[in-house]
Amino acid sequence: EKGTYPHFMLKEIDEQPIVMRKIIKAYQNENNELKLDRNVREAIKACDRIYIIACGTSYHAGWTGKQVIEKLAAIPVEVHVASEFSYNMPLLSAKPLFVFISQSGETADSRAVLVKIKAMGYPALTITNVPGSTLSREADYTLHLYAGPEIAVASTKAYTAQIAVLAILAVDAAQAKGITLDFDPMQELAIAANAMEMLTDQKEAMEDLVVNHLEKARHAFFIGRSSDYYVCLEGALKLKEISYIQAEGFAGGELKHGTIALIEEGTPVIALATQANVNYAIRSNVQEVVARGANAMVISMKGLEQENDTFVLPHVHALLTPLVTVVPLQLLAYYAALHRGCDVDKPRNLAKSVTVE
Ligand code: M6R
Repeated sequence: EKGTYPHFMLKEIDEQPIVMRKIIKAYQNENNELKLDRNVREAIKACDRIYIIACGTSYHAGWTGKQVIEKLAAIPVEVHVASEFSYNMPLLSAKPLFVFISQSGETADSRAVLVKIKAMGYPALTITNVPGSTLSREADYTLHLYAGPEIAVASTKAYTAQIAVLAILAVDAAQAKGITLDFDPMQELAIAANAMEMLTDQKEAMEDLVVNHLEKARHAFFIGRSSDYYVCLEGALKLKEISYIQAEGFAGGELKHGTIALIEEGTPVIALATQANVNYAIRSNVQEVVARGANAMVISMKGLEQENDTFVLPHVHALLTPLVTVVPLQLLAYYAALHRGCDVDKPRNLAKSVTVE
């Protein structure tokens, strides 16, 4: 039920900090140690490469998962769009582990890959919000997202839940390999949950940004580097699917290889700047687009902010920034759709669960 909320999407955006805390609780024992299915740990230990298979928003979460798993557990990870993988399978490593990410657990494109790789004899883990779903039943192992029912077609809390569970998987894999981390991952997740809460409390600021940048826009660009880039892909998808503004996410460095030709007077450009190692580079990109007339907004992070940044996010661990960076982008998409009179929860031509290939 929506309760006092005008839309499920807004309710689900607001639920994200609660979902984070549920995940932290579900995957920890009373001694604050990670509690993950032992078979999942063995499967990860036994593999030489992880293949993440997903669609849409879940695919975007997969890219953040790749970064976290590779950085923390030193296991190579590939991320594939399910429909492409089906018909154009890459050369596989000797001991692959397939990880399917799916909110619904019913996505036909992902299932087609699952059926194929099971027939080839490979192990599969499904990360889903619906444990009894097809992808969960047909895989060897399941990790639950604990996000609660997600009703709005635009996925929000499932995305952040997927990233949190992938981070926990990465930590478990690191522990299994005897790698010691120099931070407390569960504490960092809890800090991220608090930061998300601070952001969901700032809806008015987001609505104002929509009025200034997106209400009348025909198109919009999201730019970012490193982990911000993957959040840009997600921000663009959110905006497209519910507000019908043509939007694209780009790696900042790719701008000069073509995209910058599209920037004209007033083009909205949303830049993410939450990564210390690319802060200088992404800011040069902002200058480049502003010099060509872009109506830019910069979303940065405490500690890396500069004068005139549009919005400064609370500081969180560098590997977990997507959890907080995505929140303002979800809210931007929501208010853009609202101000443009779109059906926020049920955008045209879309279904919550895509059960045909
Ligand atoms: O249920 P799934 O996570 O497998 O769904 C995948 C996509 O269909 C889904 O994320 C879709 O892109 C959403 N509408 C995005 O908001």
